[in-house]
Amino acid sequence: MMFARVARRTFTSSAVNPYKVTVLGACGGIGQPLSLLLKLNDKVTDLRLYDIKNAKGVATDISHIPTNSTVTGFSAEEADGLKNALKDTELVLIPAGVPRKPGMTRDDLFNINAGIVYDLATAAAENAPNAAVLVISNPVNSTVPIVAEVFKKKGVYNKKKLFGVTTLDSIRASRFISQVANTNPTQEHVSVVGGHSGITIIPLLSQTKYANTLSKEQRDALIHRIQFGGDEVVKAKNGGGSATLSMAQAGAKFANAVLSGFAGEKNVTQASYVDSPLYKSEGIEFFASPVTLGPDGVQEIHPIGDISAEESELLKECKETLKKNIDKGIKFADSKQ
Ligand code: NAI
Repeated sequence: MMFARVARRTFTSSAVNPYKVTVLGACGGIGQPLSLLLKLNDKVTDLRLYDIKNAKGVATDISHIPTNSTVTGFSAEEADGLKNALKDTELVLIPAGVPRKPGMTRDDLFNINAGIVYDLATAAAENAPNAAVLVISNPVNSTVPIVAEVFKKKGVYNKKKLFGVTTLDSIRASRFISQVANTNPTQEHVSVVGGHSGITIIPLLSQTKYANTLSKEQRDALIHRIQFGGDEVVKAKNGGGSATLSMAQAGAKFANAVLSGFAGEKNVTQASYVDSPLYKSEGIEFFASPVTLGPDGVQEIHPIGDISAEESELLKECKETLKKNIDKGIKFADSKQ
């Protein structure tokens, strides 16, 4: 009797949110905790983990957690491992690639990660052309355009389904501003726009309730900390990589937002680096700003709103760098023809 009740409840919940999710690079510093958090998300019913190493081990471990999803590991050695990990999936997260070491910028990762992302995007375009693709691998400013070019080449590009994950910048901003203002970080929100590296990250402090209370020094320090927060982690890990645990939380949060949009939940808005109309006339194809998510992915891309003179200066510099980063990604993808 009791079993029947439990079974019925389980069935109901899987029928409401039957999402298939694939993580490519699932066994890395980000991939493992990200996969764990996705296993805890009741919107996910079929979790597929792929990596060039140890995917079966991580999948078996996570699969013992008693939540309502199957977990399957796919390795690069098995025939069609990548293809089967992707077949008919609805959401693909890509944290595959190498992380930074002290002294490196995200752009220094381009030479290795561009090729990895290109190959994984090719497999995604062939096997899951309708899936939302969430790119975590750095440099995000360039890897997202690479994915777009691959999908275009395959004739399956849908700009509403491609996202660069910039959520870590947003969660850092909430945390760091709460430390300055001595408040609860869960109640803080800062709109962070632009791109995902150094000076392309623009926290719009003028839009917060602290616009007139922070001193210029506090503001400058906070902006710098949000822009270069990743360096704090790289330095502290001292050669052991970059942010992984906070990034996993950010990635899981953004994946949940995309799935919530798919499920028809209303007012799901998060910042993301997307194919954006905001500055296209200036030759900038991708830009991060608040995006409302819906059943088809991107539902509405919001403009950045009113900004201060200081922030306008930051935006100008951001655009110059962003344009170069985007062109670099597009050129790389074109060179692979
Ligand atoms: P990691 O080295 O710990 O893990 C990377 C994983 O990717 C490894 O398990 C590796 O085997 C796997 N991998 C490599 N090539 C692959 C391929 N062709 N197919 C499938 N899997 C492959 O690195 P970590 O710390 O997890 O970082 C991953 C990426 O995420 C880096 O590029 C890093 O810069 C980026 N990152 C992005 C952030 C963001 O905010 N978007 C924040 C922090 C890191």
